[in-house]
Amino acid sequence: MTATTPRLKHEVKDLALAPLGRQRIEWAAREMPVLKQIRDRFAKEKPFAGLRIVACSHVTTETANLAITLKAGGADALLIASNPLSTQDDVAACLVTDYEIPVFAIKGEDNETYNRHVQIALDHRPNIIIDDGSDVVATVVQERKEQLSEIIGTTEETTTGIVRLRAMLNDGALPFPAMNINDADTKHFFDNRYGTGQSTLDGIIRSTNVLLAGKTTVVVGYGWCGKGTAMRARGLGANVIVTEIDPIKAIEAVMDGFRVMPMAEAAPLADLFVTVTGNKHVIRSEHFDVMKDGAIVCNSGHFDIEIDLKSLREKATEVKNVRPFTEEYRLPSGKSVVVLGEGRLINLAAAEGHPSAVMDMSFANQALGCEYLVKNKGKLEPGMYSIPREVDEEIARLKLQGMGIEIDSLTEEQIEYINSWTVGT
Ligand code: ADE
Repeated sequence: MTATTPRLKHEVKDLALAPLGRQRIEWAAREMPVLKQIRDRFAKEKPFAGLRIVACSHVTTETANLAITLKAGGADALLIASNPLSTQDDVAACLVTDYEIPVFAIKGEDNETYNRHVQIALDHRPNIIIDDGSDVVATVVQERKEQLSEIIGTTEETTTGIVRLRAMLNDGALPFPAMNINDADTKHFFDNRYGTGQSTLDGIIRSTNVLLAGKTTVVVGYGWCGKGTAMRARGLGANVIVTEIDPIKAIEAVMDGFRVMPMAEAAPLADLFVTVTGNKHVIRSEHFDVMKDGAIVCNSGHFDIEIDLKSLREKATEVKNVRPFTEEYRLPSGKSVVVLGEGRLINLAAAEGHPSAVMDMSFANQALGCEYLVKNKGKLEPGMYSIPREVDEEIARLKLQGMGIEIDSLTEEQIEYINSWTVGT
């Protein structure tokens, strides 16, 4: 340890990257006015004084602003990566050196390191767990039962984590309250749709530099993330096909003007495939077999399970890295399939994740979700809770204010009208 190395425990790539991280964190903060207001209030009120908060999140400039906000609120905060490929190493370094927040995250870390960091996070003995994918919660519940009584609750960021928490709840295995951050309108309407939409296309373009105009593009899944991805791909001139298993979402996609068909039919048609379903092996062996030569396949869902890469690896006669985050698998037929970002979420692997302006609202929900857990400590049964509607609306109001946009409010006459049922035609 040199004289300038902080004594704080950490595992980051290179502390010398901190100045660049600082510039980028401050740049992101410009687009995060809602979180800034919360941070200023937390600095005065210290809602987390004496509490340990562990955040397992993508270590980005936006997450840095959340961690700084929690610390301003008095938390003893520690941050680990929620994905081996999503860490921004300069950000991790800066949080350690400039903000004295312990960070355990290195871009490209292997699964063993990732799991070791989850254990380190639990060694911090958290009172609150901010999770993105539910790995920390699943681990504490299975392996550290003796710590459960210290945990006030968790906040979960992503659809995949919510599905996992619901499965735990249905199994009677969820021991504390869990705030469903994803459920807030100010989260999923914007982060999942516009955030995923823009950052996914950004990741595809940064890794391949392909022209999207005229490319037949299959978007697998038409949830909020799929809607955003399909919308932005169309905006760039792609000819978009949607595949779905949910009949209602499939109708939505049709009426939004997309072609909808089963993957078996779409597989031979497309130049580019993007998975955003949260489910396993939505692109698999039989699909690779019929793809066009040079078809590009990537994932923007939380876990790297959506593309059956094992089956592709087993078939391939050669695997070649052709650009950063871009690997070409040669098949016995002579055709190739190109996989981006090792099948991990391409928006964070090859680009910088969702832009700050949407993460502002997501992380405002996270910060206020943690405060809600503290304010209601001991009053909430184990289970899933949504951010209260008035908090969701307040975040939206603050966001509009930050954007310099004013809106109307109901007149007395309108309030009376919508509250009465006697007046008809
Ligand atoms: N998830 C998607 N984009 C993100 C970002 N920029 N920061 C943290 N988590 C994210």
